[in-house]
Amino acid sequence: MMKAERRLRVGLLGGGPIAQIAHFDALHKARNAELYALCEAAPDLRARMSTVHAPTVAYADYAEMLADPRVEAVLIGIADAYHVPRALEALAAGKHVLVEKPLGVSVEEVEALRDRVRQRQLILQVGNNRRFDPGVAFARDFLRSEVGALLAFKAWYYDSTRRYTMTDNLQPIPVLSESAQRPSGNPKADKRRYFLLTHGSHLVDTARFLGGELIAVRARRLERAGAYCWFVDVDFASGALGHLDLSVPVRGDFEEGFQIHGEGGSVQGRAALPWFHKSSVVEAYSEADRQYRRPLGEDAHTYKLQVEGFADTILNGTPQHGANVDDGVAAVRALVAIARSAESGEWVRLSEVTGTV
Ligand SMILES: NC(=O)c1ccc[n+]([C@@H]2O[C@H](COP(=O)([O-])OP(=O)(O)OC[C@H]3O[C@@H](n4cnc5c(N)ncnc54)[C@H](O)[C@@H]3O)[C@@H](O)[C@H]2O)c1
Repeated sequence: MMKAERRLRVGLLGGGPIAQIAHFDALHKARNAELYALCEAAPDLRARMSTVHAPTVAYADYAEMLADPRVEAVLIGIADAYHVPRALEALAAGKHVLVEKPLGVSVEEVEALRDRVRQRQLILQVGNNRRFDPGVAFARDFLRSEVGALLAFKAWYYDSTRRYTMTDNLQPIPVLSESAQRPSGNPKADKRRYFLLTHGSHLVDTARFLGGELIAVRARRLERAGAYCWFVDVDFASGALGHLDLSVPVRGDFEEGFQIHGEGGSVQGRAALPWFHKSSVVEAYSEADRQYRRPLGEDAHTYKLQVEGFADTILNGTPQHGANVDDGVAAVRALVAIARSAESGEWVRLSEVTGTV
């Protein structure tokens, strides 16, 4: 693994589970970025993570990290409710931002953040790591170059009842702290809301990344045997018909997938839990040569690839492949629209929703 000479100096906010299972490793392995600073309020966690991951500096106080002129960008890996306030502070300090998904928890707060990003010449990227899965990236290119106008779009996201057996084997055991800084109340207690925000944010981003803008949704929800299912009809701006299925957890394997038909061909893909770092299996058919294609995608560390993409955009002006602030806002609008529609049974336009899921 070769490190570039010019590396983006990243300040990581949060030394909690997502940092430990994704971002420390991603920053160490990224060719063009480095863990310059760590900010963690909990003293035990800060000490332990600093020893293991050796940032150049460690901060207890976020304002101090933001005041460090050597920090070029901040990676925000903390609870959803904190994303927008911490991102606003980073932008005010002149730092680029890579923030975990979802961008925020309400339409109003993410729109305020979008307005601030537009005023500053700074990059904001949302941590929709699946965009960096090489199979998904291939699917997007293929859809644009070979498939053209879409007819029918289906995508699904299934979490598994056996997820933790798999993640316990794949991830380091997270080090937790009694003094971790968290929002009051447990955001995971309301599962209907939590599942939609945490899992739905991946599904709607993949739908938009591959299928384009979503205009309106009509959702049905079923809660049975401890599982939650959202079945969502979608109108795409392109006129294509769409269907999204978010089922959490299923009695079976974790899977994200899509099946897309269009004028010049079709694409289908299935992705495993991201922690396997395996590319999704994607097959793409082109009517032009009547051939199927399937990429290998040998490098599928999506958390590393998303940091590399972020750094490339900042350091070299490479077009942003990751989700930008508009994508983050659109995803929150889609999630709120799905929640509203599941309550009323009516079609809900994304442009008309307010509030939170
Ligand atoms: N992309 C993915 O695949 C994926 C997977 C899992 C979780 N996530 C996202 O990760 C986020 C949750 O991460 P987590 O579980 O590690 O959160 P957490 O709340 O368990 O840990 C966050 C850590 O950050 C510290 N912290 C918070 N605010 C701070 C501040 N202002 N100053 C200093 N330290 C501060 C806390 O002390 C804590 O140790 C969520 O947004 C979730 O959606 C993403």
